[in-house]
Amino acid sequence: MLELFEATLRQLQTPEEPELLYAPIIYSMSGGGKRLRPVLLLLTAEAFGGNIDEAMIAAQAVEVFHNFTLLHDDIMDNASMRRGKPSVFAKWGGNVAILSGDAMLITAYKLLAELSAERLPRVLRIFNDMALEVCEGQQYDMDFEQKQKVSVVDYLQMIERKTSALLSGSAMIGATIAGASDDDIKKIYRFATELGLAFQLQDDMLDSYGDEALGKKIGGDILEGKQTYLMVQAMSRATDEQREVLRTTHLNTNLSDVEKIATVKALYDKLDVKRATEQQIELRFERALSVLDTLSIERSCTVQLAEFARNLMGRKK
Ligand code: IPE
Ligand code: IPE
Ligand code: MG
Ligand code: MG
Ligand code: MG
Repeated sequence: MLELFEATLRQLQTPEEPELLYAPIIYSMSGGGKRLRPVLLLLTAEAFGGNIDEAMIAAQAVEVFHNFTLLHDDIMDNASMRRGKPSVFAKWGGNVAILSGDAMLITAYKLLAELSAERLPRVLRIFNDMALEVCEGQQYDMDFEQKQKVSVVDYLQMIERKTSALLSGSAMIGATIAGASDDDIKKIYRFATELGLAFQLQDDMLDSYGDEALGKKIGGDILEGKQTYLMVQAMSRATDEQREVLRTTHLNTNLSDVEKIATVKALYDKLDVKRATEQQIELRFERALSVLDTLSIERSCTVQLAEFARNLMGRKK
C-alpha cells in the first residue's frame, strides 16, 4: 500500500511558480513522512472491500492535509527541525510556511472534489469534522502552555483532537468509501482513536527521551513549556517546590537550553513519569487492538491492521 501510495503521489503535479509558494510544498511532501494516515485509509478501504482507486484520492488528500498541519505546527511550536531537516518555517520563514500551508489545505480539497458524487458528501462531512477537530486540538495545545493546572483528562481530550482525529478520520473515510456498515465505522473509529492516543503519547515521550535520529530537536516540548503527558504526570506527582521548578525552568534566562532540558528531565526521572507514560501507551495500544477482533472483516485484514498498529508503535522516526 505504501509503495502504491508513493507512486501515486509522485504523479501529483505541482506548478513551478511562484517558487516560494510551491517549492516548500514539494519539500514537505517529499520529505520522508511515514505516510501513516494514507496507509491506514487504504488498508481500511481494502479491509471492507472498497475501490482502491477512489480510496487513493482520499489518501492523497489526508496526507496533503497532514503535511499542511505540520507547516503551521512548526510555526506555532517554534520548531526548527522536522524529519531531520530544517522545517519549512526555519528554511523559508513564517510567512512562506503560512501561505504554502494554506495552498496545501486547498490542494487537499481539490483532491477530494475528484471523488464520486456518491461518496463525496459523506467523505466531506468526515473530513471537515476531522479538520476542525485538529484546529481545536491545536488551540487547546497552545492554551495549555499558559494554563497552571492541566489534568490528565484535559490532556487526553486535547490529543484526541490534535492527533487522533486525523487517524480516526482517515480510517472512517476508508471504511466509508468501501461502504462499511455504521457499526463497523464506529468500531474502526474507536480503533484509530485509541491508536492515535498511543501514538501522541509516544511522540511526547520521544520528544524528551528519543534521540535526534528521530528528526526533531530533543527537548523541544520542554523548551516551549508544553503540557505533554510527561509534564502533566510530573506536575501531579511533584512537591510544591518541584512544581515551581517544572513550571518556571523553561522561562529561566540564566539557563542554557541544555541546562533547562537537563533540569526538567532530572525531575521527570525522579518522579518516574517515563514509566507512567509507557503504561498509558500500552493501555491505549491494547485497547486499540481489542477492537479489531470485533470487526466484520476477513481474518487476513485484521492481521494487517494489527501489524500496521504494531509498526506505528515501534517507530524510530
Ligand atoms: C507528526 O506526525 C505529528 C504528530 C501527530 C506527532 P507523524 O510522525 O506521522 O509525521 P510524519 O509525516 O511521519 O513525519
Ligand atoms: C502534533 O503535535 C499535532 C499536529 C501537528 C496537528 P506535535 O506538535 O507534538 O507534533 P510534532 O512533535 O511537532 O511532530
Ligand atoms: Mg510540533
Ligand atoms: Mg504542536
Ligand atoms: Mg511532538
